[in-house]
Amino acid sequence: MMQAHECHAYVGKRGSRKSTRNKENLGRCLKAGQRVIAFDPHNEYAQDGHATDEVMLGPLPSSRELWAVLADPSELLEGDTSFAVVPDSLEEEDLARGFDELARLAYEAGDLVFSADELVLYFMSARVQKRLNFLATQGRHKKLPLALAAQRMVHVPYTTRTQLTLVDTGKQDDPDDVAAIAKRCGKDFAEKVPKLKRGERLVWQDE
Ligand SMILES: Nc1ncnc2c1ncn2[C@@H]1O[C@H](COP(=O)(O)OP(=O)(O)OP(=O)(O)O)[C@@H](O)[C@H]1O
Ligand SMILES: [Mg+2]
Repeated sequence: MMQAHECHAYVGKRGSRKSTRNKENLGRCLKAGQRVIAFDPHNEYAQDGHATDEVMLGPLPSSRELWAVLADPSELLEGDTSFAVVPDSLEEEDLARGFDELARLAYEAGDLVFSADELVLYFMSARVQKRLNFLATQGRHKKLPLALAAQRMVHVPYTTRTQLTLVDTGKQDDPDDVAAIAKRCGKDFAEKVPKLKRGERLVWQDE
């Protein structure tokens, strides 16, 4: 269950289980009866996703193609089903446009948990940063909790970071990432993050 004001970041290097942890949380949201929509570049959040040895499929009942959702958003806007939304291209411009349009529709629909993974592929786009900051600061008014997965803390835009209520992190050792974690989670928490071992994670929650 995520409350309307909640904003989660699952961060850490490749293979540090951030997507797994995000999926676990989204599974709890589904069990609690919440609607979940996930922007899913690697098609790994739904039970009908692309299974490999490297990923455990997530808990969403099914997936949709991004272009189909954008062409006809009626199911997103008027329905109550949960689904993963999978882009057909990993090109930055396509992802940035697709993410922005999907997130705008998700906000319009409201009353759902909105999640996005692999921020690394589209966070550089100004429109993505604006949209994330909009969702992070305005989402509460539309009952839209936010759950993000990113390899680096600095991939989460600054204003979005100021709104985080939970940071679930694996090892981060780049000074910029450690500084960004310190800014939101405090120095005591941040100084433990570069010392984490492979597979270890730490969770910070706002009081
Ligand atoms: N509890 C667990 N114990 C051991 N391995 C696990 C556990 N949970 C997940 N894994 C495995 O760890 C691997 C990495 O998990 P995951 O895909 O969540 O990483 P990630 O941080 O999202 O990586 P990437 O940056 O590449 O997306 C997967 O192969 C997954 O099956
Ligand atoms: Mg992942």
